[in-house]
Amino acid sequence: MNAPVVVLVFVLMSCLLVGSQPMQPSTTTFASYLFVLQSPQGVCASTIVCKGNIPTDFTIHGLWPQDGNNRGVPSYTISNTCSTLQVVSQAKLKNTLAKSGNLKLKQQLNQAWPNLKNTNNPNLNEFFWLHEWENHGMCSDYGDNSVVYFGAAINLRNNVVSVLNFQPRTAYTVDGIANAVYTQLNGRPEVHCVTSRAANQKLLGELRLCYKKGNPTPNGIYNCTRFYSGTCNSVQESITVL
Ligand SMILES: *[C@@H]1O[C@H](CO)[C@@H](O)[C@H](O)[C@H]1NC(C)=O
Repeated sequence: MNAPVVVLVFVLMSCLLVGSQPMQPSTTTFASYLFVLQSPQGVCASTIVCKGNIPTDFTIHGLWPQDGNNRGVPSYTISNTCSTLQVVSQAKLKNTLAKSGNLKLKQQLNQAWPNLKNTNNPNLNEFFWLHEWENHGMCSDYGDNSVVYFGAAINLRNNVVSVLNFQPRTAYTVDGIANAVYTQLNGRPEVHCVTSRAANQKLLGELRLCYKKGNPTPNGIYNCTRFYSGTCNSVQESITVL
């Protein structure tokens, strides 16, 4: 072989070798967000044992980066450094939340993203936010900026809550709920059903909304590919919004 051919073969082989390296899963697969709102009344009657005085409006469960197959992106670990961003650790987030300059953010989070669980942990809400940050936020577009991540979720939630208006203690079909959301927001949600402990009745547990990635906030809601999840089995099924 002459020299240019040798060089060419070498270049091609290096490409093949690089191509066969296992890819970093989440950097390459993070495709969209699932924004999960919970119906406090629904989850408290079913999956969560709740404290008293729970809110009536939808509250945030989380803002979750998803891959192209609608699966959650694996959370950040030392070996899965999902992001090229300089990610904020849980400890750093704790400091950020404690800063007096972030008092307003904390007040908004307390209202929009409360931990509904009935436990004795005095930092119940903070515990929930730290958990969500570690499992989802660090691998989002905002892994380097927790204030933007939480702010984005609060904004999304406020926009949704301001237009959705389900009649309490009323039965809707899964499709009926989806269409009501679609009419207001232009995106069909995944309706997540739960079953009540007391009456074995199907309830709306969560509304899961699908958004495109985007900075400074996720933008462009679109129809989720999954229409329902949890204990529902069809779009015709009747579920109660508590
Ligand atoms: C999105 O879902 C709505 C409500 O189910 C439907 O009417 C609409 O055609 C869907 N749009 C697309 C682009 O699939």
